[in-house]
Amino acid sequence: MADGLRKGLTSYGDAGFSLFLRKAFIKAMGYSDDALERPIVGITNTHSDYNPCHGNVPQIIEAVKRGVMLAGAMPMVFPTISIAESFAHPTSMYLRNLMAMDTEEMIRAQPMDAVVVIGGCDKTLPAQIMAAVSADLPTVVIPVGPMVVGHHKGEVLGACTDCRRLWAKHRAGEIDEAEIEAVNGRLAPSVGTCMVMGTASTMACLTEAMGLSLPMSATIPAPHAERFRSAEESGRVAAAMAKAKGPKPSDLLTPAAFRNAQVVLQAIGGSTNGLIHLTAIAGRVPHKIDLDGFDRIGRDVPVLVDLKPSGDHYMEHFHHAGGVPKLMAQLGELIDLDARTITGAPLRDIVARAEHVQGQDVIRSRDNPIRREGGLAMLTGNLAPRGAVIKHAAASPQLMQHTGRAVVFDSVEDMTLRIDDPDLDVAADDVLVLRNAGPRGAPGMPEAGYLPIPMKLARAGIKDMVRISDARMSGTAFGTIVLHITPESADGGPLALVETGDRIALDVAARRIDLLVDESELARRRAALSSSAAARPTRGYAQLFHDTILQADEGCDFDFLTAAGRSER
Ligand code: FES
Ligand code: MG
Repeated sequence: MADGLRKGLTSYGDAGFSLFLRKAFIKAMGYSDDALERPIVGITNTHSDYNPCHGNVPQIIEAVKRGVMLAGAMPMVFPTISIAESFAHPTSMYLRNLMAMDTEEMIRAQPMDAVVVIGGCDKTLPAQIMAAVSADLPTVVIPVGPMVVGHHKGEVLGACTDCRRLWAKHRAGEIDEAEIEAVNGRLAPSVGTCMVMGTASTMACLTEAMGLSLPMSATIPAPHAERFRSAEESGRVAAAMAKAKGPKPSDLLTPAAFRNAQVVLQAIGGSTNGLIHLTAIAGRVPHKIDLDGFDRIGRDVPVLVDLKPSGDHYMEHFHHAGGVPKLMAQLGELIDLDARTITGAPLRDIVARAEHVQGQDVIRSRDNPIRREGGLAMLTGNLAPRGAVIKHAAASPQLMQHTGRAVVFDSVEDMTLRIDDPDLDVAADDVLVLRNAGPRGAPGMPEAGYLPIPMKLARAGIKDMVRISDARMSGTAFGTIVLHITPESADGGPLALVETGDRIALDVAARRIDLLVDESELARRRAALSSSAAARPTRGYAQLFHDTILQADEGCDFDFLTAAGRSER
């Protein structure tokens, strides 16, 4: 029997009175004793007027409540923080761990037997899952779903790969003011998350692959009726989990589940951010995502899903082609089908029911992949002793092995001030370097790693250059871009030592990123380096963030939130 309203009761010596009080107050909402005696399913409300990606959350919640009640349990909706990419200053990543803390503590604080967590816009799904893992109640995850596509002059458009591509054309003078305004109204034609294989879509696919959400829930478009039927079913499943007291995230998040997630991350050509978030989720279990191991998986796993930014299609096309179950079917023995899911069924059952859509070309077979290798590669070298990542699926083949002259920007502000200066000394085969843009340095590791092509080169038709930084990049971006250089420059990383004019060698096949400067010269520069460490904020969340943020290879969680740092409660 589930605990319902009795769960987490602090009795202070008189449990009967505590329950009496609890019931007296909740009855103010008009609930009957019959309702209050049932197992309780908490539902997080991550709706916000600032978060258009979560615009369908009220409807999702209604559907979940219906499902919970049809299955004989009691739904209780409670608010948690909502984070939207475009409205989160200084960066949404700065707030991810705050959201995870909020959700975890509210799950712990309030009586519930199971919880449905709703997320979608980039940082929200990882935050909700990190929270759920730490609270470890039976949990169903619901992604809000992708937007439907837009159309412009006969062309299909998607946020935000095409935002960047068309804005770059506007910068280069190929699209005028009136047309870019028209495009602006067509890039995001509905509520829901970016409909390319950006971070939101990536995390929704990984969630499904880890068995934490219902089959197809990653890909059903946000406005579709099917989205709400899936939410209703999620409510039923959560009610069953509340009664059965499981499975819990700790039951499902096995090494096999994390390996499956990494296989899917490579096979979808997923976002580089997905790797940070997966590492953070794993750190809560605890489980270590080994970056060399991830790179090895990438050498065996082909990219099979043909979605922007590395391919041609959008999430709704992926959905109509069979979604994640079909992808896992195509991946064959690369997926461990014994891994269990929220319904208790193994992935084997889900994959066996995958839809076979004749003639679809979005989910390829292994003998006809988009790329023979996975989407992401890990690099190391004297510039990145603890690693860096490149999404080589979305990079220019001719730049995969490239040595060039460094052009260094000391911070995001410095880059913003100088990148379009007509007098900037830069050529197309130079390597653009951005530093002090990591987890602690910026702070919050902004998506500044997609340095724009300097205006004068863009106008000359240059579309891509090697760009390297300790920052992140939007999963929707395209280019030969090395990210997450670890340790970051503000944490004593060698990126702090690079000077304009140095030679930098990128060799993706060899998985190397190196600064071609003598060790003795680097030692001299290190000794002369004035402490580049970011100033410690004087109070509040900023200080907590500064003091406890981990590096990218540890998922950028706060050190005290990882399982190793967790106090038992
Ligand atoms: Fe919310 Fe892209 S801005 S998912
Ligand atoms: Mg994004």
